[in-house]
Amino acid sequence: PPLTQDELKRMAAHRAVEYVKSGMVLGLGTGSTAVHAIRRIGDLLREGKLTGVVGIPTSKMTEEQATEAGIPLSDLESHPSVDLAIDGADEVDPQLNLVKGRGGSLLREKMIEGACKTFVVIVDESKLVDHIGGTGLALPVEVIPFCCNFTVERLRELFPDSGCRAELRRVGEKQVPFVTDNGNYIVNLYFERDFGDLNEASDRILRIPGVVEHGMFLGMATTLIVAGKLGVTVKEK
Ligand code: A5P
Repeated sequence: PPLTQDELKRMAAHRAVEYVKSGMVLGLGTGSTAVHAIRRIGDLLREGKLTGVVGIPTSKMTEEQATEAGIPLSDLESHPSVDLAIDGADEVDPQLNLVKGRGGSLLREKMIEGACKTFVVIVDESKLVDHIGGTGLALPVEVIPFCCNFTVERLRELFPDSGCRAELRRVGEKQVPFVTDNGNYIVNLYFERDFGDLNEASDRILRIPGVVEHGMFLGMATTLIVAGKLGVTVKEK
């Protein structure tokens, strides 16, 4: 039978864990792909094949999963220099630029993955794109709750030529705003057309007061591991 998407995610994650060595400080990613790496690291610790690793979780969810897996945890203040981070992504382009944060954890992910020497991104092949932000799917932006509709409007106006739609992410029957681990909200940006240079777009989004961070991870990933029907491929930057 053909491999399921979850099996592909696990294959990519297990390949990434080969980069983990005893004694490393690890950034632990968030999501349905990263959890396979967390469980694998836990298994290797239990079997005594890895020792002395410390994990820095990128979300509360990851913190729970890593605790369950038996990985000792720390934070960026105690371990400001991270050896290796492993995390999934929502979109990956050929230059290894990413969209992340559809799970809502982009801020802690960016802080931790920005502090690591090696950042291994693990995806199944459905995440590969030619241009990030060009798929019609959400580019998430974390904003503070204060007057968030004002910020939504300002984000919408930023890209007048790209057919940009901006929507506060809502959840549940009552459609209440989604709240991040940091107590903030998420605005999803959708583009009908290319929004041009990524670094320029990044700067423009970050210049809006009320914006905390966005989900474009530009020039951060050092290694990409893709699992597809024909096997696992590794691309170094
Ligand atoms: C969490 O906010 C995200 O950045 C995830 O890392 C990303 O959404 C990938 O998640 P999956 O591995 O579940 O697709």
